[in-house]
Amino acid sequence: MTRPQISINLAISADGKISSVARRPSGWTSREDHARLLALRAGADALLVGRGTLEADRMTLKAAGDPWRCVVSRSGAFDAGHPLFHSPGGPVHLLVTEGVGQEVVGAVMHRGNLAEFLGMLADEGIRRVHCEGGGQLVFALAEMDAIDELHLTWAGHRLFGGGEAPTLSGVPGAFLPASLAFDLVDFDPRPAIGECFLTYRRKTQ
Ligand SMILES: NC(=O)c1ccc[n+]([C@@H]2O[C@H](COP(=O)([O-])OP(=O)(O)OC[C@H]3O[C@@H](n4cnc5c(N)ncnc54)[C@H](OP(=O)(O)O)[C@@H]3O)[C@@H](O)[C@H]2O)c1
Repeated sequence: MTRPQISINLAISADGKISSVARRPSGWTSREDHARLLALRAGADALLVGRGTLEADRMTLKAAGDPWRCVVSRSGAFDAGHPLFHSPGGPVHLLVTEGVGQEVVGAVMHRGNLAEFLGMLADEGIRRVHCEGGGQLVFALAEMDAIDELHLTWAGHRLFGGGEAPTLSGVPGAFLPASLAFDLVDFDPRPAIGECFLTYRRKTQ
């Protein structure tokens, strides 16, 4: 099945966590990180997040060029009052993989698995999907070996901490079936703000 190119963008704290155990909103780590987030969104035809991240970060997924705004859920327990459904931007597409799913006015609901959804996006002419987490969704994409580019903001000034706090590949202790090979293609340390911007690209042989 064909799929679009998929990039990921996450901020990790010094201990490799993407969030605290309490799953508080992560926000952005600095003005520079926020500017990078917006620049990465601007190159996408579609943005993709898990419902956990949508809820925790109260995202509206606004971006230049109004890319599609896609949210993935097993349960389909979408909150119709969420700001996503009441803010201008690209068309909203919801994927429900297991439950019946709560229809939301103004959003297109899809049922099926993640691979089928990505295939549908490709069929609709979506070439670049940009995913902003969270860890569970990134884990699923990594399991499918469907990550082409990985952008990290390594925020060395912050420790989220907590053995149960999620990492970039989801819940600690849930190992991927195989290692994935990436090349580090950009290393951009910003000592003045205690951060480093990293870009990895999937190794192709
Ligand atoms: N540091 C960063 O850059 C960054 C980025 C993103 C998120 N975060 C933080 O991470 C925390 C959320 O982490 P999380 O791991 O819970 O996030 P998540 O992956 O966004 O959310 C998990 C939920 O999303 C849905 N989901 C995820 N993968 C799915 C799949 N393969 N198929 C179907 N549904 C799927 C499910 O929704 P249902 O419950 O509806 O079934 C699941 O319960 C928040 O605190 C957020 O602030 C940080």
